[in-house]
Amino acid sequence: MNTHYQEILDDLKKHPRTWLITGVAGFIGSNLLETLLLLNQRVIGLDNFSTGYHSNLEQVRLQISPEQWSCFDFIEGDIRERYTCRKVCVHADYVLHQAAIGSVPRSLEDPLYVNENNVTGFLNMLVAARDAGVDRFVYAASSSTYGDNPSLPKVEEEVGKPLSPYAVTKYTNELYAETFASCYDFKTIGLRYFNIFGRRQDPEGAYAAVIPKWFAGIINGGPVLINGSGETSRDFCYIDNCVQANILAAVTRNEKALNQVYNVAYGQRTTLNELFVLIRDQVGKIMPEAMRIEPSYRDFRPGDVLHSLADINKARDLLGYHPEYSLQAGLESTSDWYCNQCGVSSNSSVQCPEYNLSAAASSGHPSQKS
Ligand SMILES: NC(=O)c1ccc[n+]([C@@H]2O[C@H](COP(=O)([O-])OP(=O)(O)OC[C@H]3O[C@@H](n4cnc5c(N)ncnc54)[C@H](O)[C@@H]3O)[C@@H](O)[C@H]2O)c1
Repeated sequence: MNTHYQEILDDLKKHPRTWLITGVAGFIGSNLLETLLLLNQRVIGLDNFSTGYHSNLEQVRLQISPEQWSCFDFIEGDIRERYTCRKVCVHADYVLHQAAIGSVPRSLEDPLYVNENNVTGFLNMLVAARDAGVDRFVYAASSSTYGDNPSLPKVEEEVGKPLSPYAVTKYTNELYAETFASCYDFKTIGLRYFNIFGRRQDPEGAYAAVIPKWFAGIINGGPVLINGSGETSRDFCYIDNCVQANILAAVTRNEKALNQVYNVAYGQRTTLNELFVLIRDQVGKIMPEAMRIEPSYRDFRPGDVLHSLADINKARDLLGYHPEYSLQAGLESTSDWYCNQCGVSSNSSVQCPEYNLSAAASSGHPSQKS
């Protein structure tokens, strides 16, 4: 672990703070929760379970001590309700705002619903956090903000026209955050996530992201569908790198780092065809029969970009971000988790207790969640 990040974690352990995580029952939120509770922080969590799971919270509970779990205060509620937002912000030092509907296809089908959650909900949180005087508001932005700008690698200052209603909502978040900084001297940091993956990412449903879908598909014997030729590429980033970026953004004392947006990625491009082979190889270590599965191809889906690769120098220079997990290292640990969830070992049959992995459709598109 890089020394700067380690020092920050050590300092947090000595001087615990109070964190609010919205979307705490989701994939990224529950991983932030786990890390912060392991660091003996006090955490308030908000979620309405629209796409999150009680089982994600239960898994966190099983990873930590009863004392650490007692520092977690969960509130079931909705960021579309102003009163709820005010209530959860009151005692928070730092806000990590993750709650949103994170799906491009869903935003194409129901832009009003996605706008209510991602824009109105965001603004409710921003106002509540400002009024409560929190020290820092860190929020989940998105690489979808690069839209139709074809240049690679993506640098923070050069965005394009949004390609989906979802991208509009995430870009709007950035505009509001910037405006709150200039109008109210409120301190925010936006993290443009690039295809985050890892334990507890939901493989189920039409809006699932490609990595959990393919793990589920391969573990269950296929089929695995690739939208397009498979030469579409993405900068896949393991969840622990994303957690690092959030913690660094929340506690940074570097004035120049504030009121900025940052790419959060690993800084390496992988095609879907390459990704399929990497995932199959991982599952194949435990289930040799997985090596027989081949992908099928179908049409490219609208609303998505062809290629994505992040320049992560800004986060490195201003926040001290050093992603520690490569795609390969992240997939190894993710594979262990999905196989464990399914009770898969070299001599056992497939049983999926937490998610209904066997029911998860296995088509894949990199930005189904983005
Ligand atoms: N996973 C990625 O690769 C990725 C990429 C770019 C951006 N993001 C953003 O990161 C954030 C977290 O994404 P995730 O992958 O963990 O998704 P997720 O769906 O697993 O988590 C989102 C959580 O927010 C909750 N939520 C949604 N609307 C809510 C509301 N109105 N009130 C309260 N809770 C609500 C959901 O129940 C869920 O638990 C989202 O803002 C998403 O747009 C994710």
